[in-house]
Amino acid sequence: MIVELPPIITIDGPTASGKGTIARIISNKLGWLLLDSGSIYRALAFAIINSDISVSDFDSIETLASNLEISINDGNVYLGGFDISEKIRTEEISRVSSVIASDYNVRKILLDKQRSLLSYPGLVADGRDMGTIVFPYAALKIFLTADISIRAQRRYNQLINKGNVVNITSIMDNIRERDERDADRLYSPLIPASDAHILDNSVLDIEQTLSIILDLYKYKFGPSYN
Ligand code: DC
Repeated sequence: MIVELPPIITIDGPTASGKGTIARIISNKLGWLLLDSGSIYRALAFAIINSDISVSDFDSIETLASNLEISINDGNVYLGGFDISEKIRTEEISRVSSVIASDYNVRKILLDKQRSLLSYPGLVADGRDMGTIVFPYAALKIFLTADISIRAQRRYNQLINKGNVVNITSIMDNIRERDERDADRLYSPLIPASDAHILDNSVLDIEQTLSIILDLYKYKFGPSYN
């Protein structure tokens, strides 16, 4: 028996490559669900920091991950019913989420959570291993990347616009550190799936990036979207 699953588009890539923004716009355009998988790792990092568990105490972290009451609704992330969407966007959470994401058991525990979000009419999933591990059978896989100095500048602009006092050199250092940790880990490292379209958007704006991905979508799924 052949089981038909809802269609999936995966958008993987390094920090600040624009994958979150692009995934959100595409999911809105298609009316498909959005899975920002990084927000699940971030929610766990938030829970760890607020439980005073050490970032190296993986036994406790795995227990916490198993009991994590996380839900995602309309792009907002809830932990035990509390909206933590804004609270998980700090530099500290970025660092801790990248550290705990290297643990095999943590990834295994969070895998089911991510897969359970697949439903009709379709799913747009962004992260690091959406196309390689979580949804390897996705019909369309994008690996979105950009030069590190461009990504650092984008992140700098975002933070400045939110009123933060930030330093571009330390942002670049943080991004480099996270890139290396996410790409060098043993389990589910940040790498393009063998059948992913690799798209470097260093010299493209959001509209241009979107237009390339929507062309790929039309090629795969046919011309219909809103
Ligand atoms: O996408 P993001 O920056 O919100 O993700 C935060 C961290 O979570 C990232 O540095 C590594 C981890 N992560 C992961 O390991 N696998 C994913 N699919 C998504 C995120």
